[in-house]
Amino acid sequence: MGRKKRIGVLTAGGDCPGLNAAIRAVAKAAFFEERAEVIGIKDGFDGLIHDHTRKLVWEDVSGILTLGGTILGTNNRADPFAYGEEKKDVSKLALDTFHKLKLDALVCIGGDGTFTVAHKLHQLGMPVVGIPKTIDNDLEQTDYTIGFNSAVAVATDSIDKVHSTAESHHRVMIVEVMGRYVGWLALHAGVAGGADVILIPEIAFEMDKVCGELEKRSKLGKRFSIMVVAEGIRLGGTELVIKREVKGSTEPIRLGGVSYRIAEQIEQLTGLETRVAVLGHVQRGGTPTPFDRVLATQFGKKAVDLILAEEFGRMASIQGIKITSVPIQSAIVRQKKVTPDLPLVQAARAVGTCFGD
Ligand code: F6P
Repeated sequence: MGRKKRIGVLTAGGDCPGLNAAIRAVAKAAFFEERAEVIGIKDGFDGLIHDHTRKLVWEDVSGILTLGGTILGTNNRADPFAYGEEKKDVSKLALDTFHKLKLDALVCIGGDGTFTVAHKLHQLGMPVVGIPKTIDNDLEQTDYTIGFNSAVAVATDSIDKVHSTAESHHRVMIVEVMGRYVGWLALHAGVAGGADVILIPEIAFEMDKVCGELEKRSKLGKRFSIMVVAEGIRLGGTELVIKREVKGSTEPIRLGGVSYRIAEQIEQLTGLETRVAVLGHVQRGGTPTPFDRVLATQFGKKAVDLILAEEFGRMASIQGIKITSVPIQSAIVRQKKVTPDLPLVQAARAVGTCFGD
């Protein structure tokens, strides 16, 4: 009998519901199918650089399917190729840990930042496979990423909740959602929550059109309106509203707060009283939805299949109902954006949703 395979697993980038479901799936599939050993790397690539790891046993991954966050911890600043504020290349340390642990493969559960690193490590000879996660759903070559559906559920629940207060006070309520530079989260939550106006980065909007829509509703006797705004929209077609810059991060810009500017303009132009709810990190919390648990389970099994077939440098992907795999690089060549001809955009327009264009 040969040596048992040793599989490393890490979660990197922003957390989201469904990460633990993915870790569980990787570990259980590895235990069952290969009797492999699974090593958890702590806090994303930071754990690989500094050799902070722990062996995962059955008890570690039992009972975590429904748990938000990640039992391994995560980090969106530890890029082994540009580490810390000095941006030092410490990739050799990451490779050293991989070899010291005698790993046969590393499963990286992450988004575009994680996969940029994973791809480079693969080019240096590390056998990596990827599992896509991000509430932004902005990775190419997969219809969905783990965490997106759960974030849509949280955002939709919040939109449902502001409905009654908007109605009671006859106000415009703006719900601002995350999503970075794409509008998937705003679009899905906006449609699910019956928003009257949805603003996303991919569809340029004009304030006159937005205000025209709100006034039209007023004239029709609708005494309140619900707007869903993506954090990444550009004011006047160009200006991003930046909340802070995180030095040393793979993506230093943090967005947030554009809705306050939109609200001011609405009040000035229409006189309609407007309030804002910026959802922030609640969208990344809580228990994963059934969809995300199912997706994470399938992705975890697929990652182990890729390792057994020695198909490295690939990422698990869902296309329609098919679970397949694609080169990691192909998922990060560009961001997956909402397109105006998307059936969901068309359906939203058909039921009267205004995109401000
Ligand atoms: O990429 C996921 C995400 O939640 C974005 O939607 C958001 O813009 C960003 O991360 C927030 O990052 P942080 O957790 O560092 O504030």
